Amino acid sequence: MKTKLTVIAILLFTLVLASSLASHGADPSPIQLPSPQMEGGKPLMQTLKDRISLRTFGEEKLPLQTLSNLLWAAFGINRPDGRRTAPSARNWQEIDIYVSSPEGLFLWDAQKNLLNPIVGKDVRGLTGNQPFAKEAAVNLVYVADYSRVTGEGEGKDVWVGADTGFISQNVYLYCASEGLATVFRANVDRETLAKEMKLKPEQKIMFAQSVGYPKK
Ligand SMILES: Cc1cc2nc3c(=O)[nH]c(=O)nc-3n(C[C@H](O)[C@H](O)[C@H](O)COP(=O)(O)O)c2cc1C
Repeated sequence: MKTKLTVIAILLFTLVLASSLASHGADPSPIQLPSPQMEGGKPLMQTLKDRISLRTFGEEKLPLQTLSNLLWAAFGINRPDGRRTAPSARNWQEIDIYVSSPEGLFLWDAQKNLLNPIVGKDVRGLTGNQPFAKEAAVNLVYVADYSRVTGEGEGKDVWVGADTGFISQNVYLYCASEGLATVFRANVDRETLAKEMKLKPEQKIMFAQSVGYPKK
């Protein structure tokens, strides 16, 4: 009788644990991305010719190599002094790229080329008010950290917006070169998403950008 009760208790505990993980998601581990490939791609003029916003996405996931290349193109380190593929006002480098995928939401560490887990569940649908957001392989969320926006000067929000735009254009060009679909998005419920991302008061969601394979 005692053994029977113990078995039932273990079964119940396993069931509760499983359903809790299913609803909240287990914390994913950090993902070490492979080194980005910096050769190849279409010639620049052809890439510009192919740049486009696309809003229909296929179901295929992005291989880690492609994700690494994409993030490096977006805002990777391209010089020994730590400067990046996109310019930033006063070299603030204030834009952080969060990656929302089916596995969870991650913060990309450009130095280590590592995806650090932030949310252990799929929040792609929260990164945009348009239905395709939850279908794109990844949604990049551009977050400005105003603790790095230092010094005197008027209109810093405009500068931070410009800095985000340069990164986004790099993503557009990478996608055009690789035949991926992408669209930059202002249409984001920033309040809800910021809560889910556990952002600090000095962090501000600027824009999001969906990326994936185009629907065939
Ligand atoms: C600042 C900005 C915000 C945008 N926000 C959205 C958006 O929320 N949703 C969307 O579907 N497209 C958005 N877009 C994409 C534009 O609609 C798109 O660039 C425009 O229609 C021109 O199309 P093209 O990029 O293919 O040339 C945005 C573009 C910019 C530059």
